[in-house]
Amino acid sequence: MLLNKDLTIVANWKMHPNSYIQAKNLIDSYIQHLNFNNINLLNLNLIIAPPAIYLQSLITDTLKNNINISFSAQNISCATSAIGAYTGEVSASMFKDLGCKYAIIGHSECRKHDQETDQLIAKKFLIALQAALIPIVCIGEDKTQFEQGNSVIKLVLAKQLKLILQQANNFFVNTKNIEFFIAYEPIWSIGTGLYADLSHINQIAAYIREQINNSKLNSNIKIKILYGGSVNITNAKNILESSNIDGALIGGSSLDGPGFAKICQL
Ligand code: PGA
Repeated sequence: MLLNKDLTIVANWKMHPNSYIQAKNLIDSYIQHLNFNNINLLNLNLIIAPPAIYLQSLITDTLKNNINISFSAQNISCATSAIGAYTGEVSASMFKDLGCKYAIIGHSECRKHDQETDQLIAKKFLIALQAALIPIVCIGEDKTQFEQGNSVIKLVLAKQLKLILQQANNFFVNTKNIEFFIAYEPIWSIGTGLYADLSHINQIAAYIREQINNSKLNSNIKIKILYGGSVNITNAKNILESSNIDGALIGGSSLDGPGFAKICQL
């Protein structure tokens, strides 16, 4: 990256593309347009979250070609056991076994479509940590809350963060180090082409950092803050340059290989 800091960029493919061949083509397009030997890419942590069904083949191919890309689950089962009678579910340890390093937890689409609550998300967060997956926890306000202003937004985010930070501290008691991500994704911005202005993003990211600091987490718990919601080639540079932001969670724009590669090489 030309930007002078370590950055994490997560490509959240959601339920795309429509076939494995297209998934393979998309990742090949990333690889073709990214020069992994380029010094500017050395401070880029690139994570791809494809549909679960494509993970195994994509991971195998990427490993075979020695490409520096990590993979993430888009969601994990809430079952505390690694295996069991949970039809349709995939456990965190199964994703880990496939070679995933990360798990997206609490995406607003899961909160909405699967009625995931803060309690359930905190449970999944803990399950991910126990399976040695690094959680990428999504939080964000909806349009009505956004329109009510910063004090309401802050209350919403504080509530979404509270159990997560508690779980992190509890889990730390038995572990040496914990690293995870908070992705601030205003719901009104996801997939809409609308995005928060920079001062808002910076202010809210600073608030999230303040909440983290106030929760008196052990200093060996490292948390990075991502921004998500209609990040594209036009707005990415400014967002990624924001001092409080450590990277981006990118949906729609990650489905265009050449365009996404440009964002990664800004
Ligand atoms: P978007 O999605 O970039 O298409 O807005 C981001 C996300 O939902 O993670």
